[in-house]
Amino acid sequence: GELPLDLFAAIQSLKKELNAVILAHYYQEPDIQDIADFIGDSLQLAKAAEKTNADAIVFAGVHFMAETAKILNPDKLVLLPDLDAGCSLADSCPPEAFTAFKAAHPNHLVVSYINCSADIKAMSDIICTSSNAVKIVEQIPKEQPIIFAPDRNLGRYVMEQTRRDLVLWQGSCVVHETFSEKKIVQLKIAYPEAEAIAHPECESSVLRHASFIGSTAALLKYCQNSPTKEFIVATEPGIIHQMQKLAPDKHFIPAPPMNNCACNECPFMRLNTLEKLYWAMKNRTPEITMSEDIRLAALRPMQRMLEMSL
Ligand code: 13P
Ligand code: SF4
Repeated sequence: GELPLDLFAAIQSLKKELNAVILAHYYQEPDIQDIADFIGDSLQLAKAAEKTNADAIVFAGVHFMAETAKILNPDKLVLLPDLDAGCSLADSCPPEAFTAFKAAHPNHLVVSYINCSADIKAMSDIICTSSNAVKIVEQIPKEQPIIFAPDRNLGRYVMEQTRRDLVLWQGSCVVHETFSEKKIVQLKIAYPEAEAIAHPECESSVLRHASFIGSTAALLKYCQNSPTKEFIVATEPGIIHQMQKLAPDKHFIPAPPMNNCACNECPFMRLNTLEKLYWAMKNRTPEITMSEDIRLAALRPMQRMLEMSL
């Protein structure tokens, strides 16, 4: 078929037709953020998916996020504009290997970062996101041994914050591992007034230069409220669109990748485009589906997270 001339208007009218809500993550391209009904970090998006009365959820984010929306809404149509929008972190934790890892650490409680597949969620006791990971681990009795999966960087950060020993699955995010300590230090010298802020998926060599560490939503709020006028932002630069909108008088410098040929945009998040969003709504596909067994098993640790992060 042919693309309509006014994509924004066409998407708005499909939204009415489907009684759909468009949920977008901060790492989506600016046009998608602008057309979304709700933009948020992973926890806010999961909560928005849990609350919506819409019949369809168009998830402008990556596969595990759309899957999370489906886990919470089995009767709704959940669309993802591009099914290949995966996540290196989720892919770093395949179910077979994780089964063996769990077997090697009996009596451990499994706390999994929401950036994992429904299969891994189904093998977990509690889910967390970057905005509640510390709070959730702190609520678990001290003597209880814990496996933390799949992000080793967030895991190490939680270990430092809670002063607890966690058994870490060695996964990581391609985007957050591309930032270079050296380049951030050089930027701090070039912009002496700037504050560096970072997402906890960054390596500890980067985190040590940050005056504030938090989820995308927490970074956004920090920039708005801080008296500082200039920030070096060590996370996917999609978030800068909202930072600039909410604090137009401030200057945001994206932390550069280690290698000049590399890019600091998430290659998975950026697979979604306004065109693909339109086609997904028009054709009601690609749709997220999963077996009811996996869904119910994955729902339990999700509900525990939602209860523990009220
Ligand atoms: P948050 O939005 O929860 O901070 O997650 C960041 C991320 O990498 C999502 O893929
Ligand atoms: Fe996954 Fe990293 Fe992309 Fe987030 S930014 S979706 S963690 S690869």
